[in-house]
Formats: sequence, structure tokens, C-alpha cells
Amino acid sequence: MRSLVVYESLFGNTDAVAHAIAEGLSRYGEVAVLTPDAADPEEVRAADLLVVGTPTHARGLPRASSWANGKPETVPRGAGRLVRDWLIDVSTGDGRPATAFATRLDKPRWLTGSAARGIARRLRRRGWSRVATPTSFVVLGTKGPLRDGELDRARAWGDALAVVATGSALVQS
Ligand SMILES: Cc1cc2nc3c(=O)[nH]c(=O)nc-3n(C[C@H](O)[C@H](O)[C@H](O)COP(=O)(O)O)c2cc1C
Repeated sequence: MRSLVVYESLFGNTDAVAHAIAEGLSRYGEVAVLTPDAADPEEVRAADLLVVGTPTHARGLPRASSWANGKPETVPRGAGRLVRDWLIDVSTGDGRPATAFATRLDKPRWLTGSAARGIARRLRRRGWSRVATPTSFVVLGTKGPLRDGELDRARAWGDALAVVATGSALVQS
């Protein structure tokens, strides 16, 4: 199974989570971890499982303006391409499995929101089928760090995703 993890990250926390998820997935096959600029249609076409994540900004997916608020001296990693924009015309899933993750602050979920839900909704609209509930990983402050144990949880989540995605591929074949 080939998995593709696509993410963006201002301060490095979502980057670390994306790589931990990929570590979990890698026990079951090849994994590419890419920012939107590198995740071209060929990469997406080759993916048996797609996992997409961002930080949570203003309760949803980052925008160019929220990047500028958070870290004015940078442009988004990925030569300025945002996951929000990448999802507009990402190759259709044709029922292939996908799911979403986000990082968010360590406060009640109703207060913080989570980008994961919005990402999952966009994936569904593009014809990807939901392989797992969208999940958030928690940071202790805007710049991090991640709460203790979150990278272990991300690895375990990646592992579990691969098991479910492999199972559904077997059922479909
Ligand atoms: C402009 C901006 C808006 C934010 N809004 C939210 C928010 O609505 N809810 C939340 O939980 N965290 C919010 N955060 C904190 C982010 O969740 C945190 O910076 C992010 O998870 C860190 O991930 P990163 O290191 O990959 O950028 C915001 C951060 C910035 C910079």
C-alpha cells in the first residue's frame, strides 16, 4: 500500500505530527510526506490512502492572512501553496480512503475548533471516502510544544489507519 501524507505547518508541530503518522503508516508500505507544492497530481493518483493535516487557525484551515498573523516573516512551507487551495482541485478520490488531522490548542474543543473537520469535508466533496474519524493533536501554546505523548499517539493513529485502509482495499479487490 502507498500512503500520501500532505500537510502544512508554521511552527513545526504539524510537521512533526505528519512525520509521526507516516512512521506508523510505513510499517505497511511506502509513505510520502509532502507539502502541497510537491504533492502533484501524479503523487495523488499513486496513493492508496491520503492523509491531510494542517494547524487550526481561527477554528479552521489556515489562510494566507492567518499565516501572516502567526509568522509574518515567512511564507507557507510549500512555496506559498496552502492545503486549503490544494484541496480545491486535488485529484478525485474515486472512493479511495482518506482522512484528516489537525493540531490545535489545549482547550475545550468547542472553543478551539479544529481544521480536521473542514479538511475531511473537502476530501469527501472530492470523492474520497472517510477511513477514520478526523483527529486533532494538541499543542500547549501557539508555537508548541506538542503535549506529551502526542507523537506516540500520532504514530499509533498512522498504524491503525493503515490496518483499516489495507482491510478496505482487500474487501474491494
Ligand atoms: C493566526 C493563528 C490563529 C490560530 N487560531 C487557533 C484556533 O482558532 N484554535 C486553535 O486551537 N489554535 C489556534 N491557533 C494555534 C495553532 O493551533 C497552533 O499555532 C498550531 O497548532 C501549531 O502548529 P504548527 O507548529 O504546525 O504551526 C492559531 C495560531 C495562529 C498563528
